[in-house]
Amino acid sequence: MTPFRHGYRGLCPSPLPSVAHSLLKPFDFDTPIDRRGGDSVKWNKYAGRDVIPLWVADMDFAAPPAVLAALRRRVGQAVFGYGGEWPPLVDAVVDHLAQAYRWTIDRQWLVWLPGLVTGLNVACRAVGKPGSAVFSSTPIYPPFLSAPQNSGRRVVSAPLAHLGGRWQWDFAATEAAIDADTRLFLLCHPHNPVGRAWSDEELGEVAAIAGRRDLVVCSDEIHCGLILEPGRRHRPFAAQHGEAARRSITLMAPSKTFNIPGLGCAFAVIPDDALRGDYRAAMQGIVPHVNVLGLAATEAAYRDCGAWHAALLDYLRGNRDRVEAVVNSLPGMSMARVEATYLAWIDARELCRRRGGVNAQRFFEAAGIGLSDGEDFGGEQYRGFVRLNFGCPRVTLDAALARMRAAVAD
Ligand SMILES: Cc1ncc(COP(=O)(O)O)c(C=O)c1O
Repeated sequence: MTPFRHGYRGLCPSPLPSVAHSLLKPFDFDTPIDRRGGDSVKWNKYAGRDVIPLWVADMDFAAPPAVLAALRRRVGQAVFGYGGEWPPLVDAVVDHLAQAYRWTIDRQWLVWLPGLVTGLNVACRAVGKPGSAVFSSTPIYPPFLSAPQNSGRRVVSAPLAHLGGRWQWDFAATEAAIDADTRLFLLCHPHNPVGRAWSDEELGEVAAIAGRRDLVVCSDEIHCGLILEPGRRHRPFAAQHGEAARRSITLMAPSKTFNIPGLGCAFAVIPDDALRGDYRAAMQGIVPHVNVLGLAATEAAYRDCGAWHAALLDYLRGNRDRVEAVVNSLPGMSMARVEATYLAWIDARELCRRRGGVNAQRFFEAAGIGLSDGEDFGGEQYRGFVRLNFGCPRVTLDAALARMRAAVAD
């Protein structure tokens, strides 16, 4: 590990944790791993600058030991030809969905993909035709707004409402936005960036709208392993009673939860044969084979990483609470509780107004914290919002929060 050059170097714990520490804490989320100067999109954005990157959604943690072991075994084979699924890998996925989400799927429903963004784009190509419309609620992860346009579809959208300190659906606005040409509803569950894990009632309402308006629902559930509220369990949209499954495309991956997005492995679950056929047809010629290392990692992640996953959620909960405590104590800033994901959606509009209309992302970047700009998540209406990724060691997070405090107090 090369030493940190940034101003928060002094806060780094020893890179060699004590024996007692490692006995008590079998998984180490505390020791920073230096990702600078390598292939990290997140860190390279600020190469040579004293900015702590808390933007793009990957975590600064090592992948689980069982995933690393599976990757070493696979690399040891030394042959990297085209890959595809094998029975124990499919068993690992099917068993994981049954155990974690009480969702029983047929193995034929699986379609392997190199990523969720690919999956969203394929869904837009597979459903409707050029000129038809695709619904998304805002604010939203930007590819939900670009994927429809990539395939000549129109975006129709309605904003989520911030009511009683919580982000919620405005179902009246949602139905009003859906027009006669709308064929596809893109759902983000749990939601990036507002961090809501939608309730059964809310999912039921989405299913009812889809039924009334004859829509296919493509549910991006990439963050489903990151429910931070103790006792809450992720419920796939397609696992509801009724006909939700028939009109659903569920996109999932181990990538966010087990911090392996660079390995490019994801899958769609599509129960309806005709819809799955259309989806596969839309993939023809443009979607490559899945990365063989990603497939090996996926099997290990879903089969052998339960204890690591529980420890990660515990750590992220602590980080979430730290972010919330600081943000909600600062003048002109606030955030709602993050129920799921490692992303905090921060309302800094009042702060920006008091400072003569500064851009929030640039204001914090100048203070040494690299956040995502709210406007990327649905345009001008989100000017003054920023998204903060708290999937990092506490020493890094605390340094960023100290900078935030100082910048706001200045
Ligand atoms: C909701 C959502 N979908 C998809 C992705 C990206 O998925 P992939 O890297 O598999 O394309 C992200 C990454 O942040 C995300 O938050």
